[in-house]
Amino acid sequence: MIKKCLFPVAGYGTRFLPATKSMPKEMLPIVNKPLVQYGVEESIDAGLSEVGFVTGRGKRAISDHFDLNYELESEIAGTSKEEYLTSIRDVMNQGQFSFTRQTSMKGLGDAILNGKRLMGDEPFGVVLSDDLCLTEAGEEGVLAQMVKLFKQFRCSIVAIQEVPEDQVSKFGVIAGDKIKDNLYQITDMIEKPSIEEAPSNLAIIGRYILTPDIFDILEKTAPGKNGEIQITDALLEQAKNGCVMAYKFKGRRFDCGSVDGFVDATNYVFNHLYNQ
Ligand code: G1P
Repeated sequence: MIKKCLFPVAGYGTRFLPATKSMPKEMLPIVNKPLVQYGVEESIDAGLSEVGFVTGRGKRAISDHFDLNYELESEIAGTSKEEYLTSIRDVMNQGQFSFTRQTSMKGLGDAILNGKRLMGDEPFGVVLSDDLCLTEAGEEGVLAQMVKLFKQFRCSIVAIQEVPEDQVSKFGVIAGDKIKDNLYQITDMIEKPSIEEAPSNLAIIGRYILTPDIFDILEKTAPGKNGEIQITDALLEQAKNGCVMAYKFKGRRFDCGSVDGFVDATNYVFNHLYNQ
């Protein structure tokens, strides 16, 4: 069983400056809920209730969000306003939260490696909260879909989505043997390839299930694209020596690390989920 999920949240969020000068980008709200809370809810819904954050300087608002705010709570206790706290109280009742700090920004692979002590020697999920993944009412969340697959295959799994050719350079891109509809066994993967280099248009989205041997591999992974330690490179190593799956998930993904995606997500949530 997978119980743990890692949230790398140390990044700067430069695309949202000046909003993110003193506020973590993960705390930007999609309507009334911070981005990171959507990810944590998806994780808890998938049964991954032990949540670890790899944070950095200036990110204290995230740990405060998953803690009580006594003054506020006693102020509104017994009033109709209390209902606004329902969703975060549910999350706090069901989840356990741990934090560790990444002191230097050496890439997503390095951030995940920083979570080694929190995740221990067990398979775990990874959520990049910039990627907001929403499913239809009554359908399982993306992580829950991946947990099901993990039970069957017992190896690392990445979520993928088809993207237009001119977008491939924004993502890790995979090549693989099709096992069945929506499922590939990875044979190659490249971090942010040019259109010419890209082995397909199947792009990795910010949801992973990783087996713990990934940590030993990450320790030996040299800096790759942009001089950063890339999880994509470590996963390719894992794929060469064993098995890594890529899963074309059911659901909708919004790139909330970009202004366009953030606005699309806001409109979608307001029109489809808020007040329903
Ligand atoms: C990271 C990964 C990349 C993946 C992407 C998904 O890139 O390195 O492989 O496709 O997340 O959002 P980033 O967007 O952090 O540069």
